[in-house]
Amino acid sequence: MKRGYHESPSSSVGPPKSRVRHNPKGDTNFLEDESTKNFARKVADHYSARTNQTLEEREASPIIHLKKLNNWIKSVLIQLYAHRGDAVLDIACGKGGDLIKWDKAKIGYYVGIDIAEGSIEDCRTRYNGDADHHQRRKKFAFPARLICGDCYEVRLDKVLADDAPFDIISCQFALHYSWSTEARARRALANVSALLRPGGTFIGTMPDANVIMKKVRQAEGLAFGNSVYWIRFDEEFSEKKFRSSCPFGIKYKFHLEDAVDCPEWIVPFHVFKLLAEEYDLDLVFVKNSHEFVHEYLKKPEYVELMRRLGALGDGNQDQSTLSQDEWEVAYLYLAFVLKKRGQPDRTQSNVRRDKGQMNISKEDIMYVSGEA
Ligand SMILES: C[S@@+](CC[C@H](N)C(=O)[O-])C[C@H]1O[C@@H](n2cnc3c(N)ncnc32)[C@H](O)[C@@H]1O
Repeated sequence: MKRGYHESPSSSVGPPKSRVRHNPKGDTNFLEDESTKNFARKVADHYSARTNQTLEEREASPIIHLKKLNNWIKSVLIQLYAHRGDAVLDIACGKGGDLIKWDKAKIGYYVGIDIAEGSIEDCRTRYNGDADHHQRRKKFAFPARLICGDCYEVRLDKVLADDAPFDIISCQFALHYSWSTEARARRALANVSALLRPGGTFIGTMPDANVIMKKVRQAEGLAFGNSVYWIRFDEEFSEKKFRSSCPFGIKYKFHLEDAVDCPEWIVPFHVFKLLAEEYDLDLVFVKNSHEFVHEYLKKPEYVELMRRLGALGDGNQDQSTLSQDEWEVAYLYLAFVLKKRGQPDRTQSNVRRDKGQMNISKEDIMYVSGEA
């Protein structure tokens, strides 16, 4: 039943003295210790265990309006940056909750990857249009491939050598799971950079560390929250000192009703920005979800989209809207857009979509591991 969206970067983790170079690109050792692997497995098991909800269960969720708001934010990002015919890589695609959004953008090819086997299987049935009878049936107009593996450990440039480059890469509500170690954070960005074409776009949403750090500093103890969520830091942070020299591995436990219950990691956004630059990815914008909503609700087409999705009611009979507690959870997140340096190669024809299928069988799902 559970699963949802959360996270955030931090300005209160002081700025690094120089560019992040603890483990520079090129000679990075990407071996992981057992505890890192255990945490990645914990996250995978948590998401795998979450079954698909019926429409009735979904509408009854205490965070239904937050889910709709997050869908609106992702839809706006996709509408802003996706173009007809684009090849899309959806990192941590989950159960394929964004397939319809990509279809509306008339993309030409889709590759989805997630660590959770159960989610990839749900994504497969959703893509095929044969999800159970409670779900909306939909056939998609673009060919697709699905892969199961750890995007922050595996070298995706090798796995997807014949599919790349992608025009757009998306990582929604999931990049913070890479911030457990510097090696994983670098692997995430190295994968994105290697697979994105010059001039291509990387869009995403993740927790806003600034907000989370501010809230924990204001809290009496190491935990804070409201009726729909709580966040708790480990005792090792009892002094609430987060050293700028150690911007990775700042773990907290996140619980969101009907959504999430697993370890997450702070992503100090200024460090993320600097690290991304090392991988030729330049920041276009970053906005906290509240700012994002206020800005894009000035545009009539996105007001209409919000009305259709129903996060703030439908403007007529349906007066239901986000609770104050849900709105506070929205504040825990941000949206970002990065652009890969360089000029697009207009001469390169897109043959990659031949690799995708219009119907994906269980055997078509590729399983990849770091050892492969
Ligand atoms: C909150 S869900 C978001 C799913 C989807 N992007 C969406 O917006 O609906 C987070 C997803 O990240 C995935 N994930 C976490 N760690 C991952 C990793 N190391 N590699 C690939 N996927 C991962 C989880 O399995 C889960 O599906």
